[in-house]
Amino acid sequence: MAHDDTETLALYVHWPWCLSKCPYCDFNSHQLDDAGPDQGAYQSAILRDLNHFAEKTKGRLLTSIFFGGGTPSLVDPDTIHTVIEAAENHWGLAKDIEITLEANPTSAESAKFRAFRNAGINRVSIGIQALIDEDLQALGREHTSGEAVRALDIAAAIFNRYTFDLIYARPGQGVGAWADELEQALELAASENGGHVSLYQLTVEPGTAFFRQNIAEANEDLAADLYQLTQDLCGEAGMPAYEVSNHARPGCESRHNTAYWTGRDYIGIGPGAHGRVTAGGVTTATHQVADPARWLDAIHKTGHGTAKVRELSRQERIEELILTGLRLTAGLARSRFRALSGTDVMDAVNLQALAELQSTGLAVLDDASLRVTDQGRPMLNTVIQRLLDEPGTTERAI
Ligand SMILES: C[S@@+](CC[C@H](N)C(=O)[O-])C[C@H]1O[C@@H](n2cnc3c(N)ncnc32)[C@H](O)[C@@H]1O
Ligand code: SF4
Repeated sequence: MAHDDTETLALYVHWPWCLSKCPYCDFNSHQLDDAGPDQGAYQSAILRDLNHFAEKTKGRLLTSIFFGGGTPSLVDPDTIHTVIEAAENHWGLAKDIEITLEANPTSAESAKFRAFRNAGINRVSIGIQALIDEDLQALGREHTSGEAVRALDIAAAIFNRYTFDLIYARPGQGVGAWADELEQALELAASENGGHVSLYQLTVEPGTAFFRQNIAEANEDLAADLYQLTQDLCGEAGMPAYEVSNHARPGCESRHNTAYWTGRDYIGIGPGAHGRVTAGGVTTATHQVADPARWLDAIHKTGHGTAKVRELSRQERIEELILTGLRLTAGLARSRFRALSGTDVMDAVNLQALAELQSTGLAVLDDASLRVTDQGRPMLNTVIQRLLDEPGTTERAI
């Protein structure tokens, strides 16, 4: 175990409500009813969940906090402040801690940005989704592209760092239209405290309104062209992909999400949040009750919102480290993998598959890391599946 892994911690806090439910979204998010949730009840439940985890992770230092959702920019800034303060009292905050809030770009929410900064937020992640008004409407969004651009301007003036999300491969979107939109987006990301953007291909998930309406995802060829264009334009703008959907100027990567992808410990509180905490070489997975009303009820009755706690087997941990690590362009650092799993990459993957992937230029294993190449990344899931097929095969690959 690398020394600092059991001394640090990332914290995720989930707020599960939105003004309306977007037709493509399968996150744990629910439309606010007229009365809205009781912010006081949410705050005290979050604080109790925090206490519960703090008891089990005493002595660690927080390196990042992420308020995600849902739409956590609907939360009262005083609540955000109270949660950050409680986290500081439990664990202490690293000097360079990253504290991110996800925000939607309606004007009512960007008007609260200064209050969020004063509450302790130093990075904001804004859900822009599209820069074309008709497309925003088709995505069921509550804001216009003008509001989105204004929200970014305000964010750039207020926060140390900002990032935003776009969804591409949208119904009817061609390569030329996406090139224009992405170029505009990259200009909006170019300022000194920008330098980061998340670009997701639309997926149509079961249970969503898009799925019920039989909206089709982009066909494979178009999706591949849009993906390649995205890599090219982001690379030219100095913001290459550092993860499948995340692009950044070097040094502007999300530290919180990188904690997930590099197998660091994190606590997840709030409805449906999950966490991973390692002690004595064993990683425990936690999952909070997903339904917001039941989560509140569970905390009220038991003092915590955890629905499931499970120790991961060694093999499960190995697979998870490979699955998350290979999402990163830099790949899975071999020494880190050894420290976290107690085994070498060569003993954890199917060596025959690895040899084939290397000879076809889809993956590389050298002394430093195992990584998927630019050619392999568009078929990342297949590459990972092949590497994990019959793990532990002992034939020599290289
Ligand atoms: C937790 S969500 C939303 C954050 C915030 N509530 C918002 O909508 O702006 C994080 C991001 O996932 C992306 N996303 C959600 N559903 C998606 C889907 N079906 N396909 C592609 N991207 C999706 C969106 O870009 C979204 O901003
Ligand atoms: S995309 Fe964002 S605003 Fe829309 S329903 Fe999902 S979490 Fe809520």
